Amino acid sequence: MLHVILLEAALELIPPELSALKQIQKHASKRNKKPNEILLDQSNHGRSMTRLEDGDRRGRPDIVLFSLQSLLETPLCKAGSLSIHIHLQDGRIVEVNPTVRLPRNHDRFVGLMEQLLLKGQVPPTGDPLLRISNDSLSELISTLKGSSSDALTLLAVEGGKKSNMKSLIETFPSDMDIPVILGVGAFPHGDFQGNVRDVFETHIELDRDVMMAWHVCSEILWAYSLKHEVIAKRYSDA
Ligand SMILES: C[S@@+](CC[C@H](N)C(=O)[O-])C[C@H]1O[C@@H](n2cnc3c(N)ncnc32)[C@H](O)[C@@H]1O
Repeated sequence: MLHVILLEAALELIPPELSALKQIQKHASKRNKKPNEILLDQSNHGRSMTRLEDGDRRGRPDIVLFSLQSLLETPLCKAGSLSIHIHLQDGRIVEVNPTVRLPRNHDRFVGLMEQLLLKGQVPPTGDPLLRISNDSLSELISTLKGSSSDALTLLAVEGGKKSNMKSLIETFPSDMDIPVILGVGAFPHGDFQGNVRDVFETHIELDRDVMMAWHVCSEILWAYSLKHEVIAKRYSDA
């Protein structure tokens, strides 16, 4: 099973220190919402965000949208061999039901994320498709490892061990029951913070240049799918 964690995702509601600003108030009222009910987004609030100390790491919901789109509804996901979590910058974890079909449209995705951050789950009642849990990143990783002593924890990061599709395929365990846990940064600039680097044992670099988070997600998902012949198995099971 492949477990992808989108790390320190730039996904949050307008923080209190920006909610009184004119630009924010104007945008919120245009959407008939209160400032603290709308998603922070660099494309709408860039000027106000210069007041935030770490503003260049925040307010990029599109990174989460594109990364999820590159993972969900893939053959590996349909085969039930993929789990996805989003680690927020305040440390909380969003569990993504792998059967969720996200809106293709950015504005509709934003509305869904606002509902998630305000209510704690989507839909607000019944079986959640997206749900916020209070587990820490370390607790999540230890849950995903389960009782396996061979679980692989990989962090995609510039400066890690130089890797490519071929070497990844060799690195992945042949036994699909051994969890492979991949961390990918879902923030636009800068480095991982706190102990995030330390909770992953192996650090891998996939190109000499910085890559988009969703390209990293795709490369690993398809390498893992190839290793386990996911598509061939789906044809033979049909
Ligand atoms: C767009 S990067 C964000 C941080 C980056 N330092 C920047 O300045 O834009 C998003 C994430 O993709 C992954 N990533 C980007 N380039 C990579 C590479 N060459 N090799 C491995 N992972 C990479 C890392 O997990 C990184 O946190």
